[in-house]
Amino acid sequence: MPRPVIAAVGASRLGRTALPGRDLFSVAVDEAFEGLPAPAELVGALYAGNQSERYENQIMHGTLLAEWAGLRYVPAERVEGCAAAGALALRHAVTDVRNGEHDAVLACGVEKMTAGGTDVATASLAAAFDRAIEQRSGVTAPSQYALLARRYLHETEATERDLARIAVKNHRNAARNPRAQFGETIDVDTVLESQPVAPPLKLFDCAPVTDGAAVVLVTSAETAAELGVPAVDLAGTGAAANNIAVAERDMTHIEGARIAAERAYAEAGVTAADIDIAEVHDAFTVSEALLSEAAGFAPVGTGYQSHRPPAERDDGWTDVALSTSGGLKARGHPVGATGLLQAVEAYEQLTGVAGERPGDPPEGAPSSPETALLLNEGGVADAVTVAHVLTAAPEVGR
Ligand code: COA
Repeated sequence: MPRPVIAAVGASRLGRTALPGRDLFSVAVDEAFEGLPAPAELVGALYAGNQSERYENQIMHGTLLAEWAGLRYVPAERVEGCAAAGALALRHAVTDVRNGEHDAVLACGVEKMTAGGTDVATASLAAAFDRAIEQRSGVTAPSQYALLARRYLHETEATERDLARIAVKNHRNAARNPRAQFGETIDVDTVLESQPVAPPLKLFDCAPVTDGAAVVLVTSAETAAELGVPAVDLAGTGAAANNIAVAERDMTHIEGARIAAERAYAEAGVTAADIDIAEVHDAFTVSEALLSEAAGFAPVGTGYQSHRPPAERDDGWTDVALSTSGGLKARGHPVGATGLLQAVEAYEQLTGVAGERPGDPPEGAPSSPETALLLNEGGVADAVTVAHVLTAAPEVGR
């Protein structure tokens, strides 16, 4: 069975931009294929993560992005799963390569979220909630996550200040990431004094509305070796859908994420303790706390300590460094591309490319990480979660 690896990555700058989605994609694909044969000479299929047609009145992202990559007559399709669309696209690419169906598959994601302003983004994201139970009540993503945050603060010793510190850490990491939406460091007061969005969540507890694109080239290890590129093993993948309405779930035990992570760990033959770095779906600060617990990094009720250096966390925590890219919170969250941006970060960290960033490695991260976990979610929390475990593979490429 072929061994799937990431052979190349690319991404646009993140944030508000004048470029349409397909041009953002072109930036990403050009970066990924710099020094490689053209996509048409390599790629057998394309999967495109994209959340909503409302931003640019555009569907058919499979065909559109294939065309813009110079591909003709390959299978190409848009993958939907709200914010998990990117990791679902990656998972399809992994499966195709592992099954021997294609030697090289392009997993990509694009979102032009600022096109209609925050109101359109808010309304289009609400389509991910149960229409009969939730949409009719006028809930939004921040208001749904506020319920999780309220409950988490009630059940644990965490305070709003603890959640704020997660934002401070992630803005600090984003300041090192040249693609990130936010390049400034902030302090706890910046978060605590920022505008309420859906209490207890404030502006700086939230991921922003972001334009951006990302591309991940998945190949067999054999093909990556022939290309002579740095490669990273896609050692494990797992996915799990929970029910859609938050009202019918345990809000602080993100069971679907736990199961998806366990599946990816089992496939990769690792445990939570082996993970050096993790990109989790920190759409809101409380999400990083909850997902630290679901991933098995933190004992229940202590995930809010993710901002602390490992030595200052409670017993039972692992040494993992979280959201080295700045996370959704500060790197940016172009919804359909986010799962792939997580893979871009892990690839750059595991191959050492990210080591060229000023100030790296990020606080608490090992200088040469070998194993990464990606957790990408769609809908509120674990309506669907996709997990990938990536491991360094220095022997494959150059
Ligand atoms: N964190 C920090 N600063 C932010 C920010 C965020 N999340 N969102 C916007 N800003 C800043 C902008 O950079 C801008 O700064 P400037 O005035 O210095 O240029 C200012 O706040 C106003 O930006 P604007 O885009 O007008 O903000 P807004 O009030 O329209 O939207 C939110 C703010 C939080 C409501 C919006 O970003 C949001 O809905 N986020 C959640 C997105 C989401 O749900 N994603 C899916 C989750 S799965």
